Amino acid sequence: MRLKFTVNGQPREADDVWEGESLLYVLRERLGLPGSKNACEQGECGSCTIYLDGVPACSCLVAAGQAEGREVRTVEGLADGEKLDEVQEAFVEAGAVQCGFCTPGLLVQTHDLLERKPNPSDAEIRESLAGNLCRCTGYEKIMDAVRLAARRKHAQRKAHA
Ligand code: FES
Ligand code: FES
Repeated sequence: MRLKFTVNGQPREADDVWEGESLLYVLRERLGLPGSKNACEQGECGSCTIYLDGVPACSCLVAAGQAEGREVRTVEGLADGEKLDEVQEAFVEAGAVQCGFCTPGLLVQTHDLLERKPNPSDAEIRESLAGNLCRCTGYEKIMDAVRLAARRKHAQRKAHA
């Protein structure tokens, strides 16, 4: 089948999509967007998290056909051109990226958290990121990164107020 949807603000098409194919496969293998990672393919690790119509979802669990006509935003779509989002900058600066396999999913999930809750408590951060597994960092650097991103976004909002 032919799949037509919007990815990172651009209309995109993929041909010869097999019905059982996942959205993650289409993004990575057909559209050349390898940011979303495939670690478990079972909805357990969160490394494939993308926005689907503005809501975070595990793209390995979304059948490609379910994306027809919808809006997808991947980790590649968080930056504004060359300018990284505050969440991306904070993860780098806080040392929250080691092997990096979990990072794209954590970035999308954190981005969503801070859109909904600009000043989350530690408990809210942990709850929001509970579905994103990291084998490397022990999570403390990730917590530091989310707090840093929240402070930065807050300062930026004040500057523009
Ligand atoms: S690859 Fe999708 S949740 Fe692990
Ligand atoms: S940085 Fe390696 S899994 Fe998280």
